[in-house]
Amino acid sequence: MTLPALTTARLVLRQLVEADREAVVKVFSDPEMSRFFAADFSDPAAASAMVDRRLSSRGPAGQGHWVIERDGEVVGVAHLRPSGELPGGVPELGYYVASAHAGQGLATEAARAVLDHGLHALGLPAVWALVHENNAASRKVATRLGFLDVGSGIHYGDLHRVLVALPAVHGRPHHVELWVPDLAEAERSWGWLLGELGWSEFQRWAAGVSWRLGGTYVVVEASPALSVPEHDRMRPGLNHLALHVATRAQVDDLAARAAEHGWRPLFTDRYPHAGGPAHYAAYLENEAGFEVELVAVEGPRQENAPAE
Ligand SMILES: CC(C)(COP(=O)(O)OP(=O)(O)OC[C@H]1O[C@@H](n2cnc3c(N)ncnc32)[C@H](O)[C@@H]1OP(=O)(O)O)[C@@H](O)C(=O)NCCC(=O)NCCS
Repeated sequence: MTLPALTTARLVLRQLVEADREAVVKVFSDPEMSRFFAADFSDPAAASAMVDRRLSSRGPAGQGHWVIERDGEVVGVAHLRPSGELPGGVPELGYYVASAHAGQGLATEAARAVLDHGLHALGLPAVWALVHENNAASRKVATRLGFLDVGSGIHYGDLHRVLVALPAVHGRPHHVELWVPDLAEAERSWGWLLGELGWSEFQRWAAGVSWRLGGTYVVVEASPALSVPEHDRMRPGLNHLALHVATRAQVDDLAARAAEHGWRPLFTDRYPHAGGPAHYAAYLENEAGFEVELVAVEGPRQENAPAE
């Protein structure tokens, strides 16, 4: 599995390969580097065995081990990988910068690139870090990256802070507003579907209603300012709204029950792969002509081909 290279102002992070072994052993050559670890990686054999473990690890797409390069020199290592310490194998971030290059903000810069990659490019719901209770420099790095301290526990054989970073709301949808010709019909179809997906009623007024999930809400409004009486998804404007569904079985279940709630299935001859062979989704249309796509997010993340 190939990892993307991550570029920052001063650094390039690229996938760790066998040819980096010597350089990584050198990064760990100062015993200070291992001060907070159970093993002493200033021993070249221990460092080399650690490189072996990193090279042989097979994680989910986009997760793994990078070397941190500055001006072509390997100055450190970073990783994002399923945690062997925390429940459920949640993604765990780690960073190491050689003593000779410490104190210049390089760990912060490298770790921020890996964290952004995890939270934004991979869309992970959270990234975790475990930092030794007494590792003041690493705790400072984590704080600067916005990690929250959610407790402590014995990890890697000693007391560690348990830290978590969550995606920021910055740049995410705040709300979506759909103007509909018939509010009662919209409530029957959208209200049922969004309710099934965990949204709850948020606002209500004579001409509209909204439902909220987390930081996002969807409004349906029968506005008196509507210029035409019907929605045509083939015209410029919204073609469809696509919503995450946790499992394929739930997509099947919702698709089967949707007809009782004002939705008719689309592209049934290609169900559930109308969006491409690796994309599991149901496409539905309500009486007002609005299309919704319900996408199962379990399994490897794939790009979908547009259906219609
Ligand atoms: C921890 C480590 C990654 C920090 O690397 P770095 O490139 O020096 O980190 P940064 O320069 O981005 O930030 C470190 C900050 O901690 C501060 N710091 C360093 N030693 C400190 C100490 N003993 N007490 C308090 N703060 C300390 C630095 O001054 C700096 O803060 P500043 O920018 O406000 O001056 C590096 O020392 C390292 O690799 N250590 C060994 C491996 C390790 O512990 N990795 C973390 C595993 S969770």
